[in-house]
Order: sequence, then structure tokens, then C-alpha cells
Amino acid sequence: MNTTTQTLVSTALPASEPKTELKYSRMIADLPGPKPWPYVGNLFQLKLSKIHITMEKWIRQFGSLFRIEVFGRSILVVSDYAVVSGILRERPGTFRRNQVGVNIMKELKIAGVFAAEGDDWRKQRKLVMRGLNAEVVRNFFPTLVRMTERLMLRWKTAIENGKPVDVHRDLKAMSLDVIVAAAMGFDIDALNHDGNQLQLDIDNLYRRLGSRIAAHYPYWRRFKLPVDKAADRSAAGVEKAVLEFIKDTREKLKQHPELLQKPSNMLEAMIAAIEDEGSSFTDQELVGNAITSVVGGEDTTANSIAWMINALLQNPAAAASLAAEADAVLGDEPLLRDFEKLSQLPYLEASHNESQRLKMVAPVIGVVSNIDCVVADIFVPKNTIIFASTVGASFEEIHFPQSEKFLPERWIFDEKPDEGDDPTRKLFPFGTGARLCPGRFLALTEIKMVVSMIMHNFELEFDKSAPPVRDLMNFFMVPSGVPVRLKLRTKKVGQ
Ligand code: HEM
Repeated sequence: MNTTTQTLVSTALPASEPKTELKYSRMIADLPGPKPWPYVGNLFQLKLSKIHITMEKWIRQFGSLFRIEVFGRSILVVSDYAVVSGILRERPGTFRRNQVGVNIMKELKIAGVFAAEGDDWRKQRKLVMRGLNAEVVRNFFPTLVRMTERLMLRWKTAIENGKPVDVHRDLKAMSLDVIVAAAMGFDIDALNHDGNQLQLDIDNLYRRLGSRIAAHYPYWRRFKLPVDKAADRSAAGVEKAVLEFIKDTREKLKQHPELLQKPSNMLEAMIAAIEDEGSSFTDQELVGNAITSVVGGEDTTANSIAWMINALLQNPAAAASLAAEADAVLGDEPLLRDFEKLSQLPYLEASHNESQRLKMVAPVIGVVSNIDCVVADIFVPKNTIIFASTVGASFEEIHFPQSEKFLPERWIFDEKPDEGDDPTRKLFPFGTGARLCPGRFLALTEIKMVVSMIMHNFELEFDKSAPPVRDLMNFFMVPSGVPVRLKLRTKKVGQ
């Protein structure tokens, strides 16, 4: 299945050009694929809740380019990393996001850059990049330190008082606190307050997003069940909260205009960008992007940490190496307080890469061709849906030997590897190309802060009484639980 010699997307000719100018040797219909049922095709094999498992099975069976059918329409599935990379890089010109998901997001008021295309996307992307650039994350760092410390103190207090710690719940609550503070500058302290309305509303939006994307028929456009009415209320609730945050931020910036020069959250930075450039961004665009960041940043980051802890529970040697690295970098401090030291955690970064390789939170990106084009050697007509696997290379032995094992060492090199051997080019946990996740720097900063704090202060003990962990695919791929008991570490490495 090694197709590294294949290059991608050759062509993106305007639709007006004759097809004959495209060079290809196969049509999608020539590709192998699972046997379709009459009329519905492979629809019923494409359950969202199992899509990552089904995809892996089909990739193993049919190779890195195959086809599936839904109601007589062919969908191209691509898992060869070079081809996937090429497709994702040809956005927003040759390909757009799959609009099925985007329309469902918009109905739930999750608009913003993720849902935008063409010039609208370019404009919004510029705004969001101003809000999430390295300088804003650095200015935000003191808040992240405070929130990581709050998580640590909550867990230490619980352990000292013999109370249980719900690690999964707390990771999600802390990630929500971080993303709301980073996006909008307000500390809602969901960590210490159960039933925070914003968290309930966001959870509700996720559930609806997942179930609507999985639905075979968009019934909610004709009639609304109580769950759909509740989702509308949640969407309105999130929008109202964000509008309040925007109003308060504008007021704060009026009182302290110096903050415009040193924005420490996304909203301040986006408002500064608007004032700088006198641009035409509307409040609706601010709202859409603030909501998109909160929805896109909470579950992804929290569950990336959750998957990593689950992997470490199964791999005590890796956990010990991680603890040793955290001890060496943090020293006498209980957590990392120096932004510069974030770059001194290579084993942690490697563990994150390895954990994403085995359990990628966004394993498939759906796109649609804007024009007739050629992918690898296949003719792809305009408006063809393509499922691009971000994780296709992960279980290929040629790219990742002993691929079923959790081996962070495979990401660590004395010298930068050649392009063809570089594993970071073979998987796309944050996507790639111009639409690469703009929140990745913030996410990685949070992941490093939280995991180094955990490994420095706590021992991870597998909770044998907990139910087995299952993969849950709602909108992202998340674990059903984190079966860990935390114990205070008494002895640090080197002591
Ligand atoms: C570990 C955490 C995260 C993961 C795994 C993740 C993953 C992804 C992926 C796979 C994409 C699609 C990229 C593409 O189409 O090529 C994406 C896009 C995006 N992410 Fe993230 N993300 C994470 C955290 C965040 C955070 C913290 C934020 C906000 C602060 C965020 C905001 C966005 C936005 C706005 C987009 C759309 C970009 C565009 O369409 O131009 N993400 N993310």
C-alpha cells in the first residue's frame, strides 16, 4: 500500500476548460470499494459513530484510494498521506469543506472561519489568525498557568481529603475555562462549578452536531423534536453569552486602550485588528468566530489529553520517561511557569504525536471538488465528495513499524529526518495547508502545561474497576472514560 511515489492532485483547471486537458488514467468508477446495497449504496455501513473503524477496515481491504456509494453518488476515499496532503493544500481553490456538516454547524450558529469559503474565508482567517497568533498565546500564558494551578490544587485537595477525582470531567471543564478565557477573556471557572450553563449549552451543541451529521435524513428542517428545540435554545444561549463578552470587552478596551497594543485574548486581538485596519468585520463575524473557537477548542484539547493519559496507563515505561522529563524541566516548581521552558519537553511532544497517531480526535476531513480535477491518476468531476483520512499512514508498518504499539521514541531524532522519513508529514492531527488549525499553538501549550503538571505531581494508577474504554465518535473521536486513579507522587526522579 506504499504509494509515496504518487503525487497528488495534479490539476485544477477552471470548469470552462475541456476535460481532455486533464491527464488521468482511471475514473472513480474503476476503483475498488465495499459492495453497495441497491439504491442506498453503502449508507448503512457509514455510521458516524464507527466511521473511523469502518474507514480503517476498508483502507486495509481496498488500499489507499477507493470508492463508496451513497444513493448512486460516488464518494472518493483517500488515505495515502501525500495525496491527502495535496488535497488539503488545494483549499480553498480546488476543494471546499463538505457542506453537509458546515450547514448543520451554521444552523446551530457555529459559523465563523471553519464554515467559510473563498474570499469570505480569506477575510475571516486573517481575523482569526490575529486572535490566535503566538504573541496572543504568550500574553495569555499567565492565565494558563493560573488555570493549571487551579486544576492541580483541586486534585491535591481531593486526594488529601480521600475524595475521588473525576479526571475526564475535570479536563473538559478546565479546557472550557481555558478556551473561554483565551477566546473571550473571562474566567467562568467551570472547573469548580458544576452545571455551568455555558458548558451545558456547548455539550448540548456537540451532541446535536454529532447526531445531525449521523442522521440519514435532516428531519429537523421539517419538524423539531424536543431535543432540537433544546439545541436551538443552547445555540441562542451561547450566542447571547458571547455577545455579552464582546460588549464587556469593548467597554474594557475603552477604559484601557493600551490593551489594544498587547492583546491577551482572541477577542481583544480581533477588536484591535478591526480598529487597526478599519476593516469591514461585523459583530456577527466576531460572534461566529468566538463560538467556533470555543466549540472547536474544548473537546479536542481535553480529549487529546484524555487519550494521552489512557495510553500512559497502558505504557508505564513511557509514563516514567515523561515524569523524568517533567521533573528535570520543572525542578522545584509544581508546574511550568516559564513560557520559554515549553520548548524543553520533547518527550511530551512525542507522546502527544504518538497518542494522536493511535487515537486521532479528527480522523477524517470531508471536502468537495469545486471544479473538475485529477487526484493521483483519477478523474474527479466537480462536486465530488472526498473523505480524506488524516490518519491513513498510522497503521502502515512501512511508515510506523510496530504500528499498534505506543512508542513516543519514534518521533525523536538527533537530526531532522529527510522529508520522506519525517513522520510529522505523514499524519494530520491539525489538518494541513492554508486551513491548518489556527488553535494548534494554544492547544499544544495547554497540553504541555497540563500533562507536565500531572506527571510531575501525580502517579497514574489504572482503575481496574472502571468499564473498558470505548472510542466514541460524536463530532470528534473521544474516549468513553479515563480509568485513572491519581496518587500524589512522593519521590521525584533524581531525589
Ligand atoms: C488538540 C486540539 C485540536 C485539534 C486536534 C484540532 C484539529 C483541527 C483540525 C483537524 C482542523 C481542520 C483543519 C483542516 O481542515 O485542514 C481544525 C480546524 C480549526 N480549528 Fe482546531 N484543533 C484543536 C484545537 C483548536 C483550538 C484550541 C481552537 C481555537 C482556539 C481551534 C480552532 C480551529 C478553527 C477555527 C479551525 C478552522 C480553520 C479554517 O477552516 O481555516 N482548534 N482543527
